[in-house]
Amino acid sequence: MVQATDSEVKNAIEKVHVPPIKTQGIKTKLVPWISQYASLDAQTVWVEPFMGSGVVGFNLAPKRALFSDTNVHIIDFYRSIQDGELTAASCRKFLESEGARLKSRGGDYYYEVRDRFNESHDPYDFLFLNRSCFNGLMRFNRQHRYNVPYGHNDNRFSKAYVTKIVNQVEYVQAKITENDWEFLAMSYGDAIDASPSNSLIYCDPPYIGLTSTYYDTWDEEKEKGLHDSLMESGCRFMVSSWAHNDYRSNELIGTLWSDCHVSYADHAYIVNGKHKPVVEVLLTNYVTEWRGGVVLPGRQDYRR
Ligand SMILES: C[S@@+](CC[C@H](N)C(=O)[O-])C[C@H]1O[C@@H](n2cnc3c(N)ncnc32)[C@H](O)[C@@H]1O
Repeated sequence: MVQATDSEVKNAIEKVHVPPIKTQGIKTKLVPWISQYASLDAQTVWVEPFMGSGVVGFNLAPKRALFSDTNVHIIDFYRSIQDGELTAASCRKFLESEGARLKSRGGDYYYEVRDRFNESHDPYDFLFLNRSCFNGLMRFNRQHRYNVPYGHNDNRFSKAYVTKIVNQVEYVQAKITENDWEFLAMSYGDAIDASPSNSLIYCDPPYIGLTSTYYDTWDEEKEKGLHDSLMESGCRFMVSSWAHNDYRSNELIGTLWSDCHVSYADHAYIVNGKHKPVVEVLLTNYVTEWRGGVVLPGRQDYRR
């Protein structure tokens, strides 16, 4: 196994396609590392019960997949693409006209769209808010109303930025059309129960003890429920989690998850514009073989 040079790593990360909807905890830079452990053939069903942005599954581009999340707006967004209601061309038109309104009316317009979205749940408005809000956050209050403040950039939807988003929609649109993918709003337990035995289930739950709200809260009971459902499923699975940061350790890796194989990687998430280093883990219920591709430097990779 030969460790990759900095430029090989940069290339591998640059090849990752970033999806149109962003969320905190997005795995963009970890896709090359996670992919090394995911062996898929034409029969494998990729199940991703915490899809968030979907960046991992979208880049692996499985033939068959179930993407799910409790955040119904993410699911609605991708179903709109699948139904042909939301296309790259219609997105361009929408973002150009709404971007012009944002440019002339600034924050007042952002909050008008936010109120509108909280009533109508329109996927176009969801995209607009996701790409013009503060720090690209995905956050809802207890009544499930989107509550992220304005990102304070009236010229957010410049021509180049609209083109970037449109290309991201176009990429996902092509993958959805080429493959047999399903998008469902459901809790992880229902997604795991619905997984056929030839599934590879990839779970990226909110990081216990580290996060932050997404759409639903996460606690030890849910993490235990996740562990037990995966173990009972009879399917192969991978779970992303964290081992430790500069201040704390995740005890559950050595207790609840002690029956899994574990691989480690150095990573840093950007939280409120700041780099937060963390030792990332990938837990699997199968012994993973290195399947080629780059080995990212600075990443320890061993089994216990
Ligand atoms: C860490 S994010 C996933 C990030 C994703 N892997 C990415 O790269 O963008 C966790 C996701 O889990 C979802 N979630 C939280 N609780 C859930 C539950 N009980 N069942 C299913 N999804 C849940 C959140 O809405 C959020 O989208």
